[in-house]
Amino acid sequence: MTTLSCFIAGLPKAELHLHIEGTLEPAMMLRLAERNRQPQPFPDVETAEKAYRFNDLQSFLDIYYRSTEVLVTEEDFYDLTLAYLEKAASQNVRHAEIFFDPQAHTARGIAFATVLRGMEQACTQAHRQLGISTRLIMCILRHLSEQEGMAMLHEATRWKRWITGIGLDSSERGNPPSKFRNLYREARREGFLLTAHAGEEGTAASVKETLDLLHVDRIDHGVRCMDDPALVEELVRRAVPLTVCPLSNVKLRVFGNMQEHNLKAMLEKGLHVTLNSDDPAYFGGYVNENFTAAAEALELSFSDIVRLAENSFNASMLSIVQKKIHLLELADYARRPAPGN
Ligand code: ADE
Ligand code: ZN
Repeated sequence: MTTLSCFIAGLPKAELHLHIEGTLEPAMMLRLAERNRQPQPFPDVETAEKAYRFNDLQSFLDIYYRSTEVLVTEEDFYDLTLAYLEKAASQNVRHAEIFFDPQAHTARGIAFATVLRGMEQACTQAHRQLGISTRLIMCILRHLSEQEGMAMLHEATRWKRWITGIGLDSSERGNPPSKFRNLYREARREGFLLTAHAGEEGTAASVKETLDLLHVDRIDHGVRCMDDPALVEELVRRAVPLTVCPLSNVKLRVFGNMQEHNLKAMLEKGLHVTLNSDDPAYFGGYVNENFTAAAEALELSFSDIVRLAENSFNASMLSIVQKKIHLLELADYARRPAPGN
């Protein structure tokens, strides 16, 4: 391990952009397919891994939705969530805000309660045994209608104790934020914290429209905002967090390679960037691999890395007191001499 990856490994951090369905590793996918007597999406782990070559967001989503079909029972959602939380805790993630896509499951006849109960049990157990805290963010699939999304929102209001936020994911192209204006108005009225994917395959205008029409608390990805200097200024002034996912962006060809990623430029502009793994089973790494890949390719400094971790706690849905506790631990860690020095 290099000094840098060693420092990243020990760094206390929060993960704020993580789709639980995107943590379905090929081995678990095959195991669940067998357990549920479902058709195997892929004959073996090697074939699954070989299929994970994407040209863009849509080619990824096609495989992602197909693979989720192995998730059927409460136990499946529990196993999936616990496996992620164990991995996250091993990477010194102290707090995780987890997206889930209920419409990908209810459309197959899986009850909303099955998904939520499985996830919630894993979150409770991981908190007790590993000390990692969690929040759940229910994502609305933007390729479906607002009316269908609204039905999910009504379901979520019955489970408010367990669901903290509402997000928007799936195909950005052709599904603008304006399509979900009423849904976000209602979600805000219900007291949910709001986030939405924007400026991933979409443009800076998509980020601007997400801010202006959906009144979100943060933006997922948002990397395209850099094409509009006035928008960058507004995001900095309003301290809007952006949950950036570098390995995902390279895999989905948002950037040609990691050296071309604009994360460092975003930090230099003063944007409130956080670093996350998105769909780690598909994109080649969990949060620490994202930190290391970005830090090496973009020559991030130790203070850039600490700032990303600070931003992750500040941008979270935790209380002020909880944030403070994590930030104190982080400051203490950052003060220690870097490993190897
Ligand atoms: N669903 C899962 N991962 C996603 C991503 N990166 N963008 C949009 N929708 C998603
Ligand atoms: Zn995402």
